[in-house]
Amino acid sequence: MAADKTPVETLTENEAAAELAFLASEIARHDELYHGHDAPEVSDAEYDALKRRNDAIEARFPQLRRADSPSLKVGAAPLPTFAPITHSRPMLSLDNTFSDEDVRDFINSVYRFLGRLPDGSIAFTAEPKIDGLSMSIRYENGRLANAATRGDGTTGENVTANILTIDEIPNTLPKGVPAVVEVRGEVYMTKSDFLALNEKMASEGKRTYVNPRNTAAGSLRQLDPKVTASRRLRFFAYAWGEISEPNDLPKTQYEMVQTFKAWGFPVNPLMKRLNSVEDIIEHYREIGLKRPDLDYEIDGVVYKVDRLDLQQRLGFRSRSPRWATAHKFPAEQAFTRVEKIDIQVGRTGALTPVARLTPVTVGGVVVTNATLHNEDYIKGIGNSGERIREDEHDIRIGDTIIVQRAGDVIPQVLDVVMEKRPADSVPYESPKKCPVCGSHAVRERNEKTGKLDSVTRCTGGFVCRAQAVEHLKHFVSRNAFDIEGLGSKQIDFFFEADDPALTIKTAPDIFTLKKRQEASPLTKLENIEGFGRVSVRKLFDAIDERRSIALARFIYALGIRHVGETTAKLLARHYGTYDAFQSAMTEAASFAGDAWSDLNNIEGIGEVVARAIVEFFKEPRNLEVIGRLLEEVTPQAAEQVSTSGSPVSGKTVVFTGSLEKFTREEAKARAESLGAKVAGSVSKKTDYVVAGPGAGSKLDKARELGVQVMDEDEWLAFLGG
Ligand code: IVH
Repeated sequence: MAADKTPVETLTENEAAAELAFLASEIARHDELYHGHDAPEVSDAEYDALKRRNDAIEARFPQLRRADSPSLKVGAAPLPTFAPITHSRPMLSLDNTFSDEDVRDFINSVYRFLGRLPDGSIAFTAEPKIDGLSMSIRYENGRLANAATRGDGTTGENVTANILTIDEIPNTLPKGVPAVVEVRGEVYMTKSDFLALNEKMASEGKRTYVNPRNTAAGSLRQLDPKVTASRRLRFFAYAWGEISEPNDLPKTQYEMVQTFKAWGFPVNPLMKRLNSVEDIIEHYREIGLKRPDLDYEIDGVVYKVDRLDLQQRLGFRSRSPRWATAHKFPAEQAFTRVEKIDIQVGRTGALTPVARLTPVTVGGVVVTNATLHNEDYIKGIGNSGERIREDEHDIRIGDTIIVQRAGDVIPQVLDVVMEKRPADSVPYESPKKCPVCGSHAVRERNEKTGKLDSVTRCTGGFVCRAQAVEHLKHFVSRNAFDIEGLGSKQIDFFFEADDPALTIKTAPDIFTLKKRQEASPLTKLENIEGFGRVSVRKLFDAIDERRSIALARFIYALGIRHVGETTAKLLARHYGTYDAFQSAMTEAASFAGDAWSDLNNIEGIGEVVARAIVEFFKEPRNLEVIGRLLEEVTPQAAEQVSTSGSPVSGKTVVFTGSLEKFTREEAKARAESLGAKVAGSVSKKTDYVVAGPGAGSKLDKARELGVQVMDEDEWLAFLGG
């Protein structure tokens, strides 16, 4: 039986009751298929239509709402879980380049960093960027010991049992390989296997998969390795993590990959070693021409500095290596229509218009939404006042538009097809009030430039339910507290619950939930649809596990405006403990004095960010919530990176004058990698000043304050060569 299409308004009470019974069992069956078996029978849109119909019928006949109604369920069966594995070396991502000009800039930046002229003397490898899932496979004494997904780059999931079923990945390595070696690369599914699998799914009347990449990911995240084995996954090796005896191995990227081949790994045949920008771009075009004929999806070409010693000198920025970049293929585009424009309210009150689109496939993925960013964007004006669409085409409801999707990036509206604009269409009007709390929505004026901010913000603050909920969702998100079993749906449920034994309105409430539950015999979570005894116990365990948390995560979780993960890490590293951080921020309240300049001196923190942090701690309500939170949770003192034993760990260094052995950028990167903080100006907190020829006022200041001064050679000797 399919969902009845009788309009809800004309249903009799008896028909409504019968249909609600059907919908409850049908939706439960789809939940089970989707979450328990990874074998959905209906599309997301069909599934949503069933849920919407259920809601509509309940809205008309509230008395008929069933105890097992899908509208009462929060969350679904948990996803299969795999044990975490912390990567011995982080798995980083790559910076993207899009144009020939970007590629030239990348190559020049390598030369510049190394203090060399761009004379074509540095070789680069160029190879396809495989659109799959990166994997780190660890071998100990020649045997496959474990395999982990990338995860957040620091910790991945242990999928060893599934990786062992992939024929292309050797379970043992030849004699003579290093005792510990981690081979990294991409697990993928071929286009032909993907199509065959989809044909099979379709012939069995099941829902087909979206693309090879998601299918490969789903195939790996199976608790039953037999399912993985049946999916014929493949592998390309292109990088490595920890290696115990690196000195016995080749000294270049190219030869390293050839070594993997000799060990029995598949490696991509299109990799070349090239020097000039022209040759590199030529190879990119060749790979682009071959792309349609390759039996695997690629989304660009990766360039890497070939010599490993140069890679080492170039090192990393916070997330990506300086020695590599991904040159992406142009994005794919499609036509569709704007059905309506909704407003989403974010954590900081930003009102973001989102276009709801007639579903359309762009590069193999169904797109139904596109962000419209802000009022100006809708009008066709960019962040710096520039025109972003031809003739300042604005976007209106009813418009036919061109959407573009590049990789995993959120779809963008590229342009409006003016010939198709309905005659009666009207320019879009931004809301003057927050659609959630009704508070005034304003565009702030930038104090410095006097210009209007591009973002329209709800002024409701803590009054706005949307902001409060988004704050909580951020708090439990993956890179913050990451509480298993407490996702976005559950937060909605707990936030809406007004029962004192259930409600979660602020972060500390998460940690008092168990106590409140124990004290209340009446509203037991385990009796609520969608929870159950086991999941409640697991939830409480997951919450308890986070009572101790890394300082950087804690700071990030606070949701301070402009403080993302990178800034949170900088703050954690700089202040060491939460107490030190908060008292410094309180001291900086007047935006003057030592604590204020100390904050501004942290490399990577600018004035706007510094101001936002100090403002955050001036708000009594924030201090009150944090106070309650600290009664439940202990942030751990930050590790001084993995640089114990480094003579400069935790020290503040200032470079001045010209350096001869390194570029300024390299000197700074090297010092930071050894745990030092590099500051721009000399103060009482400076530990060392490294002065080259031509040093001036900073050197004078250092002498005046009695700070230890070294020249470049002394500095190098101090670092240990
Ligand atoms: S090198 C330190 N080479 O792209 C850099 N990555 O955006 C290590 N990828 O997470 C990565 N093909 O999953 C590299 N030939 C290739 C690649 C490749 C695909 C993926 C990989 C990585 C992501 C970075």
